Amino acid sequence: MLLVLLGPPGVGKGTQCRMLVERFDWQVISTGEILRRAMREGTSLGQKAREFVDQGQLLPDGIMIELVRDALPLSTIRKGCLLDGFPRTIPQAEDLAVWLKSLPAQLDAVIVLMVDDSELRRRMLQRAVEEGRSDDTSDAIAVRLETYHRQTAPLIEYYRAQGILHEVSGLGTPAEVQKRIVECIP
Ligand code: AP5
Ligand code: MG
Repeated sequence: MLLVLLGPPGVGKGTQCRMLVERFDWQVISTGEILRRAMREGTSLGQKAREFVDQGQLLPDGIMIELVRDALPLSTIRKGCLLDGFPRTIPQAEDLAVWLKSLPAQLDAVIVLMVDDSELRRRMLQRAVEEGRSDDTSDAIAVRLETYHRQTAPLIEYYRAQGILHEVSGLGTPAEVQKRIVECIP
């Protein structure tokens, strides 16, 4: 089983992935978490990531593609896996398709969480107070939202055309959102 959780910054992808992993004992590959850990540890990936993440910009596709290929062997997909934060551009989605074909494996569903931008801003500014994530500043949030609409939202039509897209409202409590997501899992 391989699922993608797609959606704008602050919509609840991480929250929902953590809940799904507890429920199904799957693995989650969160590219944002991998980059934040590398930044904390000061590795060469972390140093590179900092140039982009703190500004709210995407890292180059080549870096992300290599990172996900390494993290996504066939054995992980067989056990069940969630992708949080990847793919985020059409080239990333195309490369994922090539990688899956080579394994061979397939993407079972893409779930896109939707919430309006004002609620997204509210959630991220609230998290800034609670957790102090380095990209939860109002400047970086503005860039992340604009980047989402320009570079990531086209994936919605890309996956709709493949017949594997499920659109889910991200409003309500995390438990309510979780219920909607579980109903979409094939
Ligand atoms: P990433 O870590 O993926 O961040 P993001 O997409 O900006 O999303 P967030 O993690 O902020 O939000 P989320 O949807 O996970 O929501 P959460 O559950 O936390 O990426 C960070 C950066 O890494 C990117 O900007 C880029 O630089 C780089 N990067 C990562 N992947 C990349 C890729 N593939 N290519 C290139 N670059 C890449 O919830 C948000 C808040 O809301 C929390 O406080 C939560 O408690 C709260 N909340 C959750 N659910 C609800 C609810 N139902 N109601 C009210 N509040 C809620
Ligand atoms: Mg997240």
